[in-house]
Amino acid sequence: MKRLVVLISGGGSNLQTLLDACQRGDINGQVVAVISNRPDVRGLIRAEQAGADALCIDHTEYDSREAFDEQLRQHIDDYQPDYVILAGFMRILTASFVNHFLGKMVNIHPSLLPKYPGLDTHQRAIDANDSHAGATVHFVTPELDGGPLIMQSSVTLEPSDTAASLAKRVLATEHQLYPRVVQLLCQDKLKLIDNIAYYDQTPIHVPLQL
Ligand code: GAR
Repeated sequence: MKRLVVLISGGGSNLQTLLDACQRGDINGQVVAVISNRPDVRGLIRAEQAGADALCIDHTEYDSREAFDEQLRQHIDDYQPDYVILAGFMRILTASFVNHFLGKMVNIHPSLLPKYPGLDTHQRAIDANDSHAGATVHFVTPELDGGPLIMQSSVTLEPSDTAASLAKRVLATEHQLYPRVVQLLCQDKLKLIDNIAYYDQTPIHVPLQL
């Protein structure tokens, strides 16, 4: 059984799907702790209700990004996790933090990376008249939203879509996508070697599709 630490900043709907999948046995792992950089978020309540440790490390209480990341790293290391799962964690992480967990940390991002790293992904897809939008799970490397891609989910963009309607549809696919990838991690089927992601020892040149 793999040990998972999940980092969040907000509502935690992706976290909930991971907690549920672990509880059902669909993921061969256990969420041992959930850490939020913001206090009073719903995700922390979800963690408590599922019996996981729920911690807040409030980034506003730290003078520098380095100081916050160092505190975060220490708390995560205390749990000796096999994997660190970023699920709506909205802080940019320092390279030394990322490198400490290299190959053990994944993120879910609401766009079809490499398109639209950063914020406002759905509006940018609409503005570009894209035919599809979606979400991507990738290994985290020091380049923001730039680590090797693992798996994507996609939806068709409708002419009537707003950023909000699109976000809702993409989020629903995220809830399928993330448990699937985390289960593959927990089965030791995904690896990061020399900045290349592998699935079952085969390099992932094109992201796997949900
Ligand atoms: C999700 O859409 C996730 O892809 C996004 O935040 C949302 C969190 O929702 N993550 C990022 O934008 C990371 N850059 P949730 O708290 O309900 O899981």
